[in-house]
Order: sequence, then structure tokens, then C-alpha cells
Amino acid sequence: MSKQVTKAVIPAAGFGTRMLPFTKAVPKELIPLVDTPVLQYVVEEAVASGANEILVVISEGKDAVKNHFSPAEDLEKRLHDSGKELLLESMQKINTLADIRYVYQSELNGLGGAVALAGEFVGNDPFFVLLGDTVMDSADALPVSGQLAVLYEKYGDPVVALAEVPLEKVSSYGIASGSEIAQGVWLLDDLVEKPDVASAPSRMAVSARYLLTPDIFPELGRIKPGKNNEMQLTDAIRELLQKRRFYGCQVKGKRYDLGSVSGFIAANVEFAMRRPELQEVLGRQILDILKEKNIL
Ligand code: UTP
Repeated sequence: MSKQVTKAVIPAAGFGTRMLPFTKAVPKELIPLVDTPVLQYVVEEAVASGANEILVVISEGKDAVKNHFSPAEDLEKRLHDSGKELLLESMQKINTLADIRYVYQSELNGLGGAVALAGEFVGNDPFFVLLGDTVMDSADALPVSGQLAVLYEKYGDPVVALAEVPLEKVSSYGIASGSEIAQGVWLLDDLVEKPDVASAPSRMAVSARYLLTPDIFPELGRIKPGKNNEMQLTDAIRELLQKRRFYGCQVKGKRYDLGSVSGFIAANVEFAMRRPELQEVLGRQILDILKEKNIL
């Protein structure tokens, strides 16, 4: 099996109920982070991490996702005719980021169900999985998925991204159990879904990015659906890590979950404040609001 990871699977089929009513007609993965859909950041991360073939899992009613990564002839002509060459270039770049394919998840039976659809695409190769509604803003020269690829090149075994969370938040995440064998490198012996504070094996939470090997597919075929009839990717990983080495990589970077209202707003404020043209005016508005609410 090649040690180069050139394929990525991006699950983007979910209902996005936490962002209703917006997600009634618009895919949550097209929610903007300032002016760019979250899924574009995710595709760009996959490409910058070495992937040139990408499979996006969508569902009925989410064709706008396809449109975003396809040429828009009328728009491009208009931008050309009005001399907006820079904007035209950045629009055309979106169409040529990678070889992007799509598969439809007909029954929305969870993240495990979405990844299970990628068997044919993946073949015998290792592959990244990137949640389509979550931006990982790397604090390293390498993007977060690229950090996982470094471990894969070294060990040849699958890797999940881990991030340390405050103790009181462990019950919201899948938490790693295992030993830290080198700085930031965990050899996993289990993953515990949403443990109580008292029984949490660590504070390292599974964090929206995975680097998997094709032997995950037989495990996905065997797991049983749980709550809401959803098949959990974590359950398949738990089975696989009994049979082979499985690593956790404490990634350098920050997670932005755009699929929740608070995550969406906080991420937008933070990313907008990085834009010099928005910083001053937005900063002043935020200060005024905080003072008005007696928060400052
Ligand atoms: P979430 O659990 O956050 O997505 O999945 P959701 O179910 O759409 O969200 P809520 O809880 O109803 O608001 C993380 C990623 O996995 C995809 C989602 O589209 C999202 O990008 N996903 C989830 C699928 O592709 N298929 C599924 O069946 C479930």
C-alpha cells in the first residue's frame, strides 16, 4: 500500500438540523466563513495535504455543493467583461482545485454510513476523512490533515486527529484512551464516546480529521446502527484498533465547527477580524455591543 495519501473523502450529506432553518434549502457545508463556504476551506486543506482526488458525500437536495466546484460560464464572462480579472482568477481556481467526485448517501445513517460509501473510490489506498462542516486552522506550516500524513509516512498505520479539551467538556466528544509514546503521538487502545468527567480516560478528543486505511470498510460493514439509526465511524475504528496499531496525533491548530450556531458566529467574528479591511469597523461595533450589554 502506498504511503502517499492522495485521496480524501469529505462527508457532507447530513441534515444540519442544528442550523435550521438555514439548512432547509442550503447545504450546511456551504455556510460562509466570512465570504467563503466552509467546504471550500476543507477541500483546500485536503489538497494542501497531498490529496488530488476527492470524493464528497452529498445527499438529495445538496446539488449546490456540486455547483460551487463547477465552472459558472455566465458569471466568468461577466467578470471578464467588467475587467475583474483577479476575482475571475479566484473563481476559476475553485473549479480546478482537484478531481472532485460525488456520491449520494440515500439514507442518512450517520458518519459511518457516509464513509462506507467510499469503498470503491478508495480501492487499496490510504485516505483522509475530513468533516465537511469543520475548519481546522493549522498553527503549523503543514495543514492539519498533512500533520496526520507525517505520522502515516512514519508508521504506516491509521491516525485520528486529537485535540485537548477542558475536563468539563469531555462528555461532548469521542475521547482517546491509550499512551503517549512521543510528544503528541498516542498509541490508542480505545476510543470512548462521550464519557463522564469521572471516567474519561484522557482529555484528548477526536477532532474532525482522520487518516484511514481500507481495512476500515469490513468493520463499517459489521457495525450496528445506534441512536437515531446512525452508524458511528468511531464504532468501526474501535473494532479496528483491537486488530492493528492505530495512532492519535495531537494536532497543532484550532477547530471551528460551523455546524452549530455559536461555532458559526464565533468563527466568523474571528476570521473577519483577521481581514485588515474589516478589522477596525467590526472591532468597534463589537466593543459597542459588549458595552451596551454591560459585558465590558
Ligand atoms: P454532523 O453530525 O455534525 O452532521 O456530521 P449533521 O447530522 O448534518 O448535523 P446536525 O447534528 O443534524 O446539525 C458531521 C459531518 O458529517 C456529515 C455532515 O454533513 C457533516 O459535514 N454527515 C453526517 C454525512 O455526510 N452523513 C450523515 O449521515 C451524517
